[in-house]
Amino acid sequence: MHYFSLAVPFWVLVGIATASKSYKATEQCPVADVSALVNTGDPVGKTEVFENVTMYYTGNENSTATGTAVLFLTDIYGLTSPENKRLADAFGRAGYFTVAPDLFDGAPSPLHMNAPGFNQTRFLEAHGPDVADPLVAKGVRYLRDVCGARRVAVAGYCYGGGLVDAAFAAHPSGWTDEEIGAIARPASVAQGQNDELNPAAKRRRMEDLLASNATGPWQVDLYGGAMHGFGVRANVSDPQQRFAMETAFIQAVRWFEFWAK
Ligand SMILES: *[C@@H]1O[C@H](CO)[C@@H](O)[C@H](O)[C@H]1NC(C)=O
Ligand SMILES: *[C@@H]1O[C@H](CO)[C@@H](O)[C@H](O)[C@H]1NC(C)=O
Ligand SMILES: *[C@@H]1O[C@H](CO)[C@@H](O)[C@H](O)[C@H]1NC(C)=O
Ligand SMILES: *[C@@H]1O[C@H](CO)[C@@H](O)[C@H](O)[C@H]1NC(C)=O
Ligand SMILES: *[C@@H]1O[C@H](CO)[C@@H](O)[C@H](O)[C@H]1NC(C)=O
Repeated sequence: MHYFSLAVPFWVLVGIATASKSYKATEQCPVADVSALVNTGDPVGKTEVFENVTMYYTGNENSTATGTAVLFLTDIYGLTSPENKRLADAFGRAGYFTVAPDLFDGAPSPLHMNAPGFNQTRFLEAHGPDVADPLVAKGVRYLRDVCGARRVAVAGYCYGGGLVDAAFAAHPSGWTDEEIGAIARPASVAQGQNDELNPAAKRRRMEDLLASNATGPWQVDLYGGAMHGFGVRANVSDPQQRFAMETAFIQAVRWFEFWAK
């Protein structure tokens, strides 16, 4: 699984500012109490079709002129998954107008890999970088041209994780060495210890490559006991899983507050 081969040119498009600033924890972290995350109930955003792609948007649109907007790249369960929409809503509540493009044209992965007739290999092949990159570019155009966003940060959850310029990536699973080696912008990664798609050896290799090659600031946070997908679809009745999901969200928001404003 390697998605979004886009490297530097895309980043120019996204244009995250890397201003240095003084550290004021309370001002920099509006969600320290995680109240922005709401794990039940209906999502609060709306959808609009832009260039034939459904865009889920959420948060205060008026903030785009002055603040940073978030391009939210869902996991493979796409916009039919309320977990993805509620997490996008959380970024909206944290002060970031957020847009999640439908990366799967209305037909995301079923929740169960062994659903009748579903072939995951074929699904992933059908949604590789050639298909996904233009959708991501449309999402950015929508944010800039329709919503008036001046700055755009990216939050990717597994599927979008391969976007090497991502400001924040939770459990990326398909990064190639070349993509990691080319990371040139602030990149924060949330990784689960028990992520079967990014096991320890691969994860350590990623850290080594970031350490040797990343030219921007980077961070890899390791969540003990966490599985793949923990940043989106934790079992919130399990305190450890819930804590990891909330902390990964705070990690993303802190990263944007500091490096994308
Ligand atoms: C939208 O889809 C229609 C019909 O397939 C096509 O003609 C049109 O070029 C598409 N527009 C964009 C912006 O992709
Ligand atoms: C956004 O701005 C418009 C026009 O000033 C205003 O009517 C609207 O209430 C604002 N929306 C929010 C959520 O602040
Ligand atoms: C699933 O798709 C792959 C790639 O298209 C194909 O090689 C494989 O035979 C398919 N598996 C089944 C069980 O149909
Ligand atoms: C890391 O950087 C070195 C030195 O610039 C380069 O030769 C190498 O190809 C890079 N590695 C990757 C995986 O991009
Ligand atoms: C979620 O966690 C609770 C508390 O640990 C547990 O009782 C329940 O079985 C879990 N649900 C799933 C679907 O694993």
